[in-house]
Amino acid sequence: MCGIIAYRGRKKTAGNLVLTGLKKLEYRGYDSWGVAVNDGESISVCKKTGKIGELNIADLKLPRASLAMAHSRWATHGGVTQKNAHPHMSSQGKIVVIHNGIIENYLELKKKLVKKGHTFHSETDTEVATNLIEEELTLALKKARQSEVSRELLLHAVQSALAQLEGRYAFLVMAEGCDALVAARRGSPLIVGVGEKGEYFVASDIPAFRKYTEHVMYLDDEELVIIDDKGAEFIDMRTQKLLKKRIIKITWKSDDAEKGDFPHFMIKEIMEQKETIQRAINQEPRLIQRAAAMINKAFGTYFVGCGTAGKVSMVGNYLFSKIAHKHINVEFGSEFPNFRHFIKKGSLLLAISQSGETADTLEAMEVAREKGAKLMTLVNVEGSSMDRMADLSIYLNAGPEKAVASTKATTAQMTLLTLLAYACADRLDEGRKLLIETAAKINDMLNPRYEAHIRAIAKKIDKVESMYVIGRGMNYPMALEAAIKLQEVSYIHAEGFAGGELKHGPLALISKGTPCIALVANDETRAEIISNATEVKARGAYVIGVGPQNEDVFDEWIRVPDVGNASPIVTTIPVQILAYHLALLRKNNPDMPRNLAKSVTVK
Ligand code: AGP
Repeated sequence: MCGIIAYRGRKKTAGNLVLTGLKKLEYRGYDSWGVAVNDGESISVCKKTGKIGELNIADLKLPRASLAMAHSRWATHGGVTQKNAHPHMSSQGKIVVIHNGIIENYLELKKKLVKKGHTFHSETDTEVATNLIEEELTLALKKARQSEVSRELLLHAVQSALAQLEGRYAFLVMAEGCDALVAARRGSPLIVGVGEKGEYFVASDIPAFRKYTEHVMYLDDEELVIIDDKGAEFIDMRTQKLLKKRIIKITWKSDDAEKGDFPHFMIKEIMEQKETIQRAINQEPRLIQRAAAMINKAFGTYFVGCGTAGKVSMVGNYLFSKIAHKHINVEFGSEFPNFRHFIKKGSLLLAISQSGETADTLEAMEVAREKGAKLMTLVNVEGSSMDRMADLSIYLNAGPEKAVASTKATTAQMTLLTLLAYACADRLDEGRKLLIETAAKINDMLNPRYEAHIRAIAKKIDKVESMYVIGRGMNYPMALEAAIKLQEVSYIHAEGFAGGELKHGPLALISKGTPCIALVANDETRAEIISNATEVKARGAYVIGVGPQNEDVFDEWIRVPDVGNASPIVTTIPVQILAYHLALLRKNNPDMPRNLAKSVTVK
């Protein structure tokens, strides 16, 4: 969940450079940060609580050096304190480490290290790794009867220590008196950026160094890279073999990951849906047909995702039922392992994700793979763990999504699921035509007047304590998704219900003035959802209708185009805008919701 970046090259301003890169990851909602600068002789560490975005880098007056690494933390083990912030230095100051992930056996290792005289200053699991590497390095130096830390001894110490760790991680390691950088990965992303003339970056996310290079090499699980004057050497930690890596060119521009003229990433990304839906449709038809053939052939297909992507999986279920008359199993990533018994060799798991790094979805993929199932992914981040694990990847092509609240990735995922459902029914052209028309209508819909209308509605309800969203059919999962969007940025208690479930309990929650959003599609569910809206209105609800036509029961109407089976794609957009404006009216930062991070790489 943390942001990581390192630089090794010719520039002597490595410290400033990594902090500038770290600021690009600020959107992920971090609580503290730190930097380590290594001039080849000694390592200086500076760390603080608070947001990196608020830092004036020049004020730090970091030493000149061409090797540095920085980290922004999202607290898991231990509170938000300066001591718990990374980088962590070992007891004797020989080793400095940055870490993302969780070391499961850290307590047991800590006890052993304390007995050997190591001291600990933080509550983190990372400090255990730091001291373990130091312990291994001290032993290796003794054995080699030398006092200088060579790259070989550092490599040996890192590998010996990592072999003792259980859990998932990404590590960056530096040693005093050595100008090499070691990075290792097991389950947490690390990407190497290749700059000019022997210049390298290592980061958890490409935006951290995208400004400096468009060329990357991906580190896979159980792989390590050592970067020094010889360049970047990749090693398979299981076999000790040297690995040859392909340099890959990134397709998106550095500006794509900037806010531009927009005040927040969230609204920028909402507005980008004018183009991103069209980009999602522009897939190679043969790829969609290949994916559809895999689904049609599978003995049991599972759509898996977490949070919003989990709700998108549920929409997929309705789409496949309605369009392709096909049964799909749907599970949240965290719940999927409970159903492992049903997975067979011929089964198929489709992992739906923006980041491609969500730990629970990745675990589901691992479980399915162990059972011999085929893996497919709908993912935004090329080169992500899910992309690398899947037998077939379909990219959302939505460009970097930086706001914690997923918007453009969500609609791109639904667009692709709709396309896949039509392809499975052998009606791909019909599906494409529908989606192209939908994209054009969304383009017309997303204008300043539309946004102002929704903001005016937000102003009427921004003080409420609770609100509800109802939907039926394909718009039932969208009601659940709408609730997530409202919760995460407005902090208003919001819940989504299937319209038909209201009278089985939730109706008791409605009182005078309770806002209730009704998501209406012009299909076989229309009459019933209007009837549900009438039920809540009769109990005093303030009904906000989102649908293609104004209905008598609506107190407010937000128009969406009438797009048949693409209805969930259009009903979600006004709720995104509503959530954004509620966040602003309630003085919340919509890009960085409290307690949340963009990419949930821990279980
Ligand atoms: C979306 O608004 C949320 N921030 C969250 O539910 C998110 O969709 C979930 O964590 C899954 O992320 P992923 O798409 O990167 O796998």
